Amino acid sequence: MNYELKKVSRRQLYDECVALLNAAGKESADFDVLCIFQDMLGDKNPLFLPGKEIPPGTAERIRGLVKARSEGEPLQYLLGKWEFYGIELYVGEGVLIPRPDTETLVEHTLDICREKGIRSPVIADLCSGSGCIALALERELPGAEIYAVEMSPEALAYLRKNRELNNSRIHIIEGDILSPEVISTLPEADVIVSNPPYLTAQDMTELETEVLCEPSLALFGGSDGLDYYRAIAEKWRDKLREGGIIAFEFGLGQHGDVEEILRSCGFTDISFRKDGGGIIRTASAVKH
Ligand SMILES: C[S@@+](CC[C@H](N)C(=O)[O-])C[C@H]1O[C@@H](n2cnc3c(N)ncnc32)[C@H](O)[C@@H]1O
Repeated sequence: MNYELKKVSRRQLYDECVALLNAAGKESADFDVLCIFQDMLGDKNPLFLPGKEIPPGTAERIRGLVKARSEGEPLQYLLGKWEFYGIELYVGEGVLIPRPDTETLVEHTLDICREKGIRSPVIADLCSGSGCIALALERELPGAEIYAVEMSPEALAYLRKNRELNNSRIHIIEGDILSPEVISTLPEADVIVSNPPYLTAQDMTELETEVLCEPSLALFGGSDGLDYYRAIAEKWRDKLREGGIIAFEFGLGQHGDVEEILRSCGFTDISFRKDGGGIIRTASAVKH
């Protein structure tokens, strides 16, 4: 069939797309559509010229993305890139989307390093995913030697691309953080940092549609969500030098249990940080 695609202005298409996302119950409809417009039109202020026409092919591509978004695909996967701590990162199916909460872990770790006068630490970022923590720490501590450990082949592909995108020198270690061979690959560390999987078995039955798109290997932390904290505190303690720091992110209400795990493994000087939503989100502790 030979038919001409109808021309549409930026404002018309924007309103159409927001209406579709609102009807699908997406609370961030305006933000999502704005991000998609910015990306597809290469314009930071796409509604500055509301009457400007969108080429029909581009309009169809935008509609396709908004439809996928209305069906629960995460915005970040649709855009293919996301910002974390001012750093651009590739993201997509198979890798956890970096969360703003995790910026608290980066800040907490940096503050403790500054407090203790640690300028060029050896850092192990366990369960590195996209590499967001390792890359943010590298930017703030250019003298650091950073090892990013990850086992998922899909996540590793993003980790490698993100190292390249950011002209980074971090070392990528492919493997299971719980394996003695992997642990023995790394040198003695000044800092161990980790945002491991921490959802409980119950949490896994109540995931939002968007989170269901993310890999369960990045989410599930055992029946009580604490398996990785126990394992890391026990197995990686000997990798940390005397006076070295361990820093964790964890979920809502897990701080008491994580504190207990750290104490039982002989860590001291435990301190906590709240995230932007006021939730106690990270802990740091010292090996003595
Ligand atoms: C919660 S995500 C965190 C990713 C990233 N650090 C962040 O903050 O966005 C946990 C990551 O740990 C990885 N992972 C899970 N179990 C692992 C293991 N035993 N060894 C290595 N990586 C593991 C997952 O593939 C996932 O990328």
